[in-house]
Amino acid sequence: MLITDAMNKKLNEQIANELNASYHYLSMACRFDHMGLRIFAARFEQQSDEERGHALRILKYIQDVGGEVSLAALARPRDDYNSVLSIVQAALDSEMNVTRQINDLVALADQQNDYATRSFLQWFVDEQVEEVRSMTDLLQLVKMAGESSALLVEARLMKMMAAKKD
Ligand SMILES: [Fe+2]
Ligand SMILES: [Fe+2]
Repeated sequence: MLITDAMNKKLNEQIANELNASYHYLSMACRFDHMGLRIFAARFEQQSDEERGHALRILKYIQDVGGEVSLAALARPRDDYNSVLSIVQAALDSEMNVTRQINDLVALADQQNDYATRSFLQWFVDEQVEEVRSMTDLLQLVKMAGESSALLVEARLMKMMAAKKD
């Protein structure tokens, strides 16, 4: 095995963290759908898929370095949101939290001279910059537009999602 037991354990925890993030985004997507905001719902569903992709990326890495994958139980995601602002704020808080988790993993890799894991984690470091940025942008838009103009933000969001696909 190319990684230590301690690193293996932390990476397994991160699989659960990413899946919890995925589950949380799915719950937020359902709240948006309930509010009639289908574009917000689609954007958050897409984000939920991305988080699942992150979990799988870590899972495959553990297998690549001869570690053992151990899946943990997921937490029940929060679903009592009643405003667009509270959901987007929670999403940004969650991304900040994941950023700290990734930084802790990087610190452990550095401490253990684990260059393979350090290199693997760089993709996540860069990804977090992008995700915090895009959620910060969305929060700013929502604050600017106000709750009653959420549909205007949706129109903008639709354009941004279409541009991202190209
Ligand atoms: Fe993630
Ligand atoms: Fe994320």
